[in-house]
This record gives sequence, structure tokens and C-alpha cells, in this order.
Amino acid sequence: MDAREMKIKAAEAALSHVEDGMRLGIGTGSTAEEFVRLLAERVAGGLKVEGVPTSERTARLCVELGVPLKSLDELPELDLTIDGADEVDGRLSLIKGGGGALLREKIVASASTRMIVIADESKVVETLGAFKLPIEVNPFGLAATRIAIEKAAARLGLSGAIVLRASGDGTFMTDGGHYILDASFGLIPDADALASSLNDIPGVVEHGLFINMASLAIIAGPAGARTLTAKE
Ligand code: A5P
Repeated sequence: MDAREMKIKAAEAALSHVEDGMRLGIGTGSTAEEFVRLLAERVAGGLKVEGVPTSERTARLCVELGVPLKSLDELPELDLTIDGADEVDGRLSLIKGGGGALLREKIVASASTRMIVIADESKVVETLGAFKLPIEVNPFGLAATRIAIEKAAARLGLSGAIVLRASGDGTFMTDGGHYILDASFGLIPDADALASSLNDIPGVVEHGLFINMASLAIIAGPAGARTLTAKE
């Protein structure tokens, strides 16, 4: 089974949690896109759902495939969000934002009663941090914000390159008009502490640590899909 087939397996398993009439948060990334494709088939077959997309990219795919969309202002309370992740640990803490949609992903997941993560086995880790941590920042005061992030990380014994994400010849811009700093801190033993410290920095709009948000992860490997629930 190749990587795409595993993503499809995880997405298929997630679809069994979707019920008629649900208000759905719809994630961003290649795994979430497999979910959108399968969801669109079910919608064409008569399933009634309304989706709130977590990015312009996901919105475009939903429109193309006929998945009914609403804005989060029209549907501010959601039943279920289904989204991918860049890393998942045993507590179902996540790193997200590899695709640059972390702010809307976090807002939408927070507005949902449940969040299910869909991923392939390569995303499961013992400790978060091999994947560079995306940190969404306001363009104003970028240099000062970067220094504040370095200092906050250093207080937790973390260091490493913090690189402004590029896109083509320019700077990557999120759907919200912000920049992303990708931080190579290495393994993050205390993700809760880092999350709180980053939240305290005014120039940080949001970061890619999703803690206590996912209630279930569906992980697909060569042998099929398994579920992970949060360990205490
Ligand atoms: C988008 O900003 C990310 O959070 C994605 O959900 C995450 O990067 C997973 O993407 P893939 O499914 O493409 O690996």
C-alpha cells in the first residue's frame, strides 16, 4: 500500500463517523483532501452535511466536488472536525501547519464538539518535534517576535533555526495574511509549556501545537487502519 492509499484508508474510516445532518469542520492537506473526495461521493449519494473549510484551498476543492459549505460565522458550532496532522503523539497532541492553515484549523477544531485526526503511520511519534513547528506570526515586528520566540524556547531548554517560510520567490502568506516561522527545536519534551509560552508572545498569532483537541486518531498503515485514543 503506498502513501496515498494509506491516506484514503484513514479517510474512509473517518467517514464512518459522519452522520446525516452533521455540521462538519473540514481540514486541510493531502489526507484531508482524500476525505473531501470520499465525502463528496457520499453527498452525491444523498448524505446531507454542511461543511466549514479550514482553508481557501479546501474550500475550492469542496466547491469543485459539490460539498455544501458554510462560513464559521454561519455555523459557529460544529459537530465534528476531520483533519490531518504532521505529527501525532500518544496523548493525541499534534503538530499541524505544514500546509500553512494552522490558524483556521485550530479555530474550526475549537468550535467542534469532536476532532478526529486522519493520518498514515509515518505521522505517529513518541515525542513531538522532529517536524519543524510552524508558528504563525504577524508580519509587523517580525524580527522582535522571532527574538521573543527564541528566548521563550531557550527558557525551556530548546533552540534551533527559526526560518521564515518562503513561497516561490517571496514569503509564504497564510489565508489570514500572516507569515509562518518554521522552528527546528528538535524534540519537545513539554509541549504544553511551549504552547503556553508561545501564546504569551503578542506577535505570535497561533502555533501548530494542538493539545487536548483531538479525541480520536485514525492511523492507516500497510495492514489497514487502527484508532488511537488519548492516553492519560
Ligand atoms: C495544514 O496546515 C496542516 O496542518 C495539515 O493538516 C497537515 O500538514 C497534514 O497534511 P498532510 O495530510 O498533507 O500530510
